[in-house]
Formats: sequence, C-alpha cells, structure tokens
Amino acid sequence: MSEQKGQRADDQMGQWTGEQRGQSAGEQMDQSAGGQKELRTREQMDQRTGSAAKERMMKHRVELDGKSILVTGSPGFIGAGLVLRLLKELTHGQVISLDNMNDYYDPALKEYRLSQIEKAAESSGARHVFVKGSIGDRDLVEELFDKWRFDVVVNLAAQAGVRYSIDHPDVYMESNVIGFYNILEACRRHVPEHLVYASSSSVYGGNKKVPFSVSDNVDHPVSLYAATKKSDELLAHAYSKLYDIPSTGLRFFTVYGPAGRPDMFYYSAARKLAAGEVIRIFNYGKMKRDFTYIDDIVEGVFRVMRGAPERALGEDGLPVPPYSVYNIGGGRPEELMDFVAVLQEELVRSGVLPADYDFEGHRELLGMQPGDVPITYADASDLERDYGFVPGIGIREGLRAFAEWYADYYRSRG
Ligand SMILES: NC(=O)c1ccc[n+]([C@@H]2O[C@H](COP(=O)([O-])OP(=O)(O)OC[C@H]3O[C@@H](n4cnc5c(N)ncnc54)[C@H](O)[C@@H]3O)[C@@H](O)[C@H]2O)c1
Repeated sequence: MSEQKGQRADDQMGQWTGEQRGQSAGEQMDQSAGGQKELRTREQMDQRTGSAAKERMMKHRVELDGKSILVTGSPGFIGAGLVLRLLKELTHGQVISLDNMNDYYDPALKEYRLSQIEKAAESSGARHVFVKGSIGDRDLVEELFDKWRFDVVVNLAAQAGVRYSIDHPDVYMESNVIGFYNILEACRRHVPEHLVYASSSSVYGGNKKVPFSVSDNVDHPVSLYAATKKSDELLAHAYSKLYDIPSTGLRFFTVYGPAGRPDMFYYSAARKLAAGEVIRIFNYGKMKRDFTYIDDIVEGVFRVMRGAPERALGEDGLPVPPYSVYNIGGGRPEELMDFVAVLQEELVRSGVLPADYDFEGHRELLGMQPGDVPITYADASDLERDYGFVPGIGIREGLRAFAEWYADYYRSRG
C-alpha cells in the first residue's frame, strides 16, 4: 500500500472510532450511564453523535493487543496474510491458527505460508499456535474455545472455488455449513467481542445491477459454493439475534497476490504459460472482475476486526442483532483481457517467460462455464463509511508483486 493511501485511510479510521475527539465508540456508550454500560436505541445514539452517524453503523471498538484471537483457514491464502499482519501489529496476546491443510491445492504452499508465519512469530510479542484440524470437528472446536477463550474469531476456513463445488458438493457442506455452524455454536457458549467471517462476492450470482450492493437481493445463487456462503450469512444473523454475538460477514471479491491460490485464474494461467500449456479463457474473455490485492484485503479485515457492530435496542425495545455484512473489493472491475495482458507483461518482466513468448498460440477462447458469472463489481461504500477504508492497489502493482514472488518461489524449488 502506498503511504499516501494508508495515511488517508488512517485519518478516516480516526473519524469512525471517535479518536479525533479523544473518544472511542465504546466510550460513548459507557459515559451516558455514568460508567455503567447501557444499551441505547440507534436513534438515541444518532442524536448524540450528530447527523453523520445516522448513515453509518455504530461500532464498538475492539482492542486486539493482548487478546486471544482465533483465525481459521490460516495458513490459507488470506488467513496467512492476516496472521502475518497480526503478528506484526500485536505486542502481546496470542493468535491461534486452525487449518486442516487439505490438498484441494498443493499443501506445500500452505506449509510455505506456515513457515513464514512461524518465522514472523519469532520476532512478535504475540504468541502463535498452529492447530491442524477441521472446523467440521465439533469436539475439537469446542475444546479450542474452552482452552483459549477467544476474544476475537475470524473464520476464513472454507472449501473455496465455484467450479469445484459442482463435482465435490460434500466437502462444501462439511466445511462451509457444518464447520461454520460449529464455530457459531462455540461462540454461543463463549461469546467473543467480535466474530468476523468470510462470505463471497459469489452470493450476487447473476445479478444484473452493478455495482453489487449489500442491500441487493442475493437469493438466487448459481453455485453450491455461493449457496453455502449465503447460508453462513443467514446462520450468523440468527446467532447474532438469538445470542447477541457481534458478527461481521465480509464478501470478498477475487483476491489475488503473492503466495495466492493456484486454483485461481491468474495463478493457474502463470503455471500453464510457464509450462508451455494453453490457457483457457471463458466467455470469450468478455468478463469483468473486481480484483482485490491481498494487502488491501488484509488491511480491510484488520480494520473490521477492531470495530464490532454495536449492541443496541430497536424501536420495539428489543435488542437488534449486532450484525453487519460488507463488500470488500476494489470497486474498479477490470476487463479480463486487460488483466491477462498485464499478467503476461509482468511474467516477462520478472523473467518467468521470455520476451518473445507466443501468447496468441497459448490461449483458447471458450464459452461460459456453469456457475460462473460475467461480472463482479463491489459497491464498497459502506466499508469506506464505517471503517474509512478504500482498497488502493491496482492490477499493475499487484500483478508485478505476484510475478516477482512467483519467479522467486519456483526458482528456489527448481
Ligand atoms: N480468495 C478469494 O478470492 C476469495 C473470494 C471470496 C471468498 N473467499 C473466502 O475467503 C476465505 C479464505 O479464502 P482463501 O482464498 O484464503 O482460500 P484458501 O483455500 O487458501 O484458504 C482456506 C483454508 O481453509 C482450510 N480449510 C478448508 N476446510 C477446512 C476445514 N473444514 N477446517 C479447517 N480448515 C479448513 C484450507 O486448508 C485452506 O488453507 C474462504 O472462506 C473463501 O471462501 C475467498
């Protein structure tokens, strides 16, 4: 991330937390009750904090330092990035990574990311513990919650991939539905300050209206993967309502970058081109994707972790669920063919491919695949409003970092 962008985002972060007024959202809640915590209605909170607050969701500040944090799906791609960031930021406390290290893609990449985490843990004030196991294992999940009493839970573990869900439905139900249900049940017994979980842009299915907004109807998934992610949002809503668990779902939009997922287009295209194979481009390249660079995603998740939905009373005097869902995407969809052109240039620049590589001879244009969607485009204005964050890294910078990492990674492995 460029410094300028980071600075702007930090400034905005101060606004939502109330820090510029020397007061956090949590403190605002405490003070009216003379030190006693008191639930107020959203309307009362809005009156106290001014008209700007009417448009944004009130957040309770969550301090991460010194806390017990569970990140499932680390050392997966996004999980590893997040844990590395946490180990850099935290001066004490503990981060527990839980992952079953499945072989959906080469587990050596997960081992590589884990070794990076373990190295980072050596110079961090916070402790890191890796647990190999499945969120589908109810006893294990309960045991971990009993032992570590997590203050913050980030559930990233899932069977990802739209196409794979067509031939392998069972694992999606096991990890994405039963696994997430196990996490929710454990959160019910040990309510964390904040549960953050991964949803996906795929919930928008074939929606025609762009950009995709979290207020859009998402009741028409076009893949089992999307259906499981939408189910997670529904389950989280019920648990937030019933058990007052502050939860935030994040709909990620096509995350890419160094040490990414080999099943995703940019990575598999790089491997195929390097091996002299033909890459397949679907819908004749007439697709747009809202690509989001890994560092942007990590920054967004990190910010979201520190701001949990505020507990409040509705007009009927009953608690409203402390529940939010956000899009987290670049908000600048790229034409797939433009993305491919930049990828090719960067693979040449990093020395993965020769300058005279016959790209035309190594591509095949095909029709649309089942479960795929022609465009993803995030309206991430809610994230900007509530957390002051806008992803800032473009595909040139992002693909350059990917290509350089790719060259190093495979060179060192022969
Ligand atoms: N990368 C993207 O573009 C993208 C887009 C939308 C949503 N997401 C979601 O973000 C999350 C992280 O995705 P990622 O790209 O890092 O994928 P990833 O596959 O690299 O990471 C997921 C990790 O979860 C682990 N896992 C799977 N099932 C498990 C289980 N039952 N118990 C424990 N661990 C299990 C895997 O071994 C893997 O390491 C996932 O929930 C995914 O659905 C990712």
